Amino acid sequence: MARKKIIAGNWKMNMTPTEAVALVEELKPLVVNNNVDVVFCVPAIDIIPAMKAAEGTNINIGAENMYFEEKGAFTGEISSNMLVDAGVKYVIIGHSERREYFAETDETVNKKVLKAFEHGLTPIICCGESLTQREQGITIDWIRQQIKIAFLNVTADQAKTAVIAYEPIWAIGTGKVATTEQAQEVCAAIRVCIAEIYDAATAEAIRIQYGGSVSASSAPELFAQPDIDGGLVGGASLKPDFGKIVNYEG
Ligand code: 13P
Repeated sequence: MARKKIIAGNWKMNMTPTEAVALVEELKPLVVNNNVDVVFCVPAIDIIPAMKAAEGTNINIGAENMYFEEKGAFTGEISSNMLVDAGVKYVIIGHSERREYFAETDETVNKKVLKAFEHGLTPIICCGESLTQREQGITIDWIRQQIKIAFLNVTADQAKTAVIAYEPIWAIGTGKVATTEQAQEVCAAIRVCIAEIYDAATAEAIRIQYGGSVSASSAPELFAQPDIDGGLVGGASLKPDFGKIVNYEG
């Protein structure tokens, strides 16, 4: 069975609640496409107003992060229960910006992934190499390690529903999109790694996105690759361009 593409925006730390509602209203008519899953991952404070604004549309509102504990004295954190209660289905986990600025590790990513699954959330699990790692030729080794730790104790049935976002760090927010060949090579390697951890059926089912300077012009070729099942889009998800990315087939 063909995998359904999933195209997600990652708004990062942009948009006040008021601006979020206006952006959802603006993009609503532009992102209609029932052949793909469309997700807007928004700041926590924007989730509820964005959800209201997106009611009755094909837009899923997702989160950008969550904490791995159930509840309690963790000032400032958001739990999976809170996301579920707000109607969230997708949550980005382990974005490279969280790893770089907020000390997230493969181990904390794994804890978050397990907690997300426990509550029925679909994690969008991020991985990606730095420029140094790419230049040293260790990209695939590095990504395999990130994937293996992220999926520790995750069952095959859970893994089948997961989304992985391959985002080379050097391509994020730089305008330097990975070449189609580079993106396809790593996404294919991730699928092989999933097949090794689980089995061919799990590898066939899991969806793998590319992220890093995706634009309306680069999306069609990227999303046509056999192992690229959509994109995780930063900057361009805040603009009408996102409609063109969602409707990349023209
Ligand atoms: P840009 O599309 O702005 O490069 O961001 C990519 C990203 O980090 C999405 O999570």
